Amino acid sequence: MSGRLTRRGLLGAGGAAALGLGAAIGIPPLMNRLLPGGEPGRLLRSALPLPARYTAELPVPAVLRPVRSDADADYYEITARRATVRLLPGHDTEVWGYQGTFPGPTVESRSGRRTVVTHRSELPRPTAVHLHGGHTPQDSDGHPLDLVGGSAAHHDMPGMAGTDGMAGAEGATVLAQRAYTYPMAQRAATLWYHDHTMGFTGPQVYRGLAGFHLVRDEEEAALGLPHGPRELPLMIADRSFAADGSLAYPELPGGAPGVRDAYMNGVLGDVMLVNGAPWPLARVDRAWYRLRLLNAANARRLRLALDPQPAGGGALVQIGSDGGLLERPLRHDGVDLAPAERCDVLVDFSRYPAGTRVRLLNRLGDGPAGEVMAFEVGSAAADDGFRLPDRLATVERLDPAKAVATRTFVFRKGEQHWTVNGEEYRPGRSIAAPRLGQVEVWRFVTDFHHPVHLHLDPFQVLGRTSGRPGRNDTGWKDTVDVLPAQGVEVAVRFTDYAGRFLLHCHNLEHEDMAMMAEFTTTE
Ligand code: C2O
Ligand code: CU
Repeated sequence: MSGRLTRRGLLGAGGAAALGLGAAIGIPPLMNRLLPGGEPGRLLRSALPLPARYTAELPVPAVLRPVRSDADADYYEITARRATVRLLPGHDTEVWGYQGTFPGPTVESRSGRRTVVTHRSELPRPTAVHLHGGHTPQDSDGHPLDLVGGSAAHHDMPGMAGTDGMAGAEGATVLAQRAYTYPMAQRAATLWYHDHTMGFTGPQVYRGLAGFHLVRDEEEAALGLPHGPRELPLMIADRSFAADGSLAYPELPGGAPGVRDAYMNGVLGDVMLVNGAPWPLARVDRAWYRLRLLNAANARRLRLALDPQPAGGGALVQIGSDGGLLERPLRHDGVDLAPAERCDVLVDFSRYPAGTRVRLLNRLGDGPAGEVMAFEVGSAAADDGFRLPDRLATVERLDPAKAVATRTFVFRKGEQHWTVNGEEYRPGRSIAAPRLGQVEVWRFVTDFHHPVHLHLDPFQVLGRTSGRPGRNDTGWKDTVDVLPAQGVEVAVRFTDYAGRFLLHCHNLEHEDMAMMAEFTTTE
């Protein structure tokens, strides 16, 4: 099989009838509900005046210290709790945060060295913690029913059982604390951890349950990439605020899981936060910087570009993707990021004259959502000695010719909820049983926008219905932006851990509204 994928090829693959044929099979005309910029979702407007842009200083989440270390592991403890923080000037906002902060603290791991994070929760609802992009055995993967709760009083889980048409949640286990063990047998990469609770991931991540988890390794260290104050993890998320400064989310009444019907396509906010600050400003030297971009929005897709572009363009030099370093740097004028995707870019701010204010725009956003943050280029012409290498890393290619199976997954609207292959998520029902160590070809097909995410192992994009992989599909990915009438074909090979894992849409409203499924890896 070549890397090219034709529309005919996909349709011929069977099970792909949803591709652009919604009317024929009775799907509501979702395409009509897309916003002008092609955005899935619906804007929830803030009920307070939006803050001025570029006044808040860019916060950088603190790096968490291990509570102890031994010969082969580092141990961390994190408590999720409510906290009152200042996100907007003049307003108090309650967040649900890891260690009471939003974003949570950054965890840093060394590739090959075990990391054990014990999570506790003082939240009014249980939580499950997933390390997104982690190569993690099942029991530490944050399955939506493997929950962490606080005291007994917190074990009340309205809506968790027999949930309004969503399959019931019997089988949930709630522990007072859970030690998540991450073997970290994986490459350096920008991972993130976030809530993954059955039916409530949308509102719980929205309230703040998300943080960075960076993995470092020798291969990357040898490149001498910008580091310290010149390495900035940037968690980009849109949010909406009520008049009293609280985070606004269109929850269902009575604590039921999911989101109100009008927001089923996704919740869009009108305040762009970076690391929890609205449209922040970062002062930078005239030097190379490393920006680890993460789209942590529930539903909003981003098209990020610097403005102005430096003479000659190509300001965003991509060095890494979801699953770590690319083989070679890739220059972009702009990068697309669907929810949960990461893009690791270098920017040489010495290409700008001192005093330039460089904005990071979102070209898919209207009005306030069209701007993200700004960099103020200082006068210090710091020669950091960094030279961009031609080659970054060795990237193994998965060979689709060796694939032992081809599977098709159709993501579409069902009667009431979102579905994968026509079924709403039901814990314990497995829809595929890939063998460990074998290459498979997985096809994702839809008539809408769905950022499709696989747990356990990353994959490589082979092609899209429109032809070759897109510019943002390079390297190891764990989330891919599947577009209307643009099926995506990936090569994937699951390794090491037998068990049940998830594939789902990472639009969190779609995920909570049942667009999730399990697969079982076998020896
Ligand atoms: Cu980022 Cu299954 O999630
Ligand atoms: Cu989706």
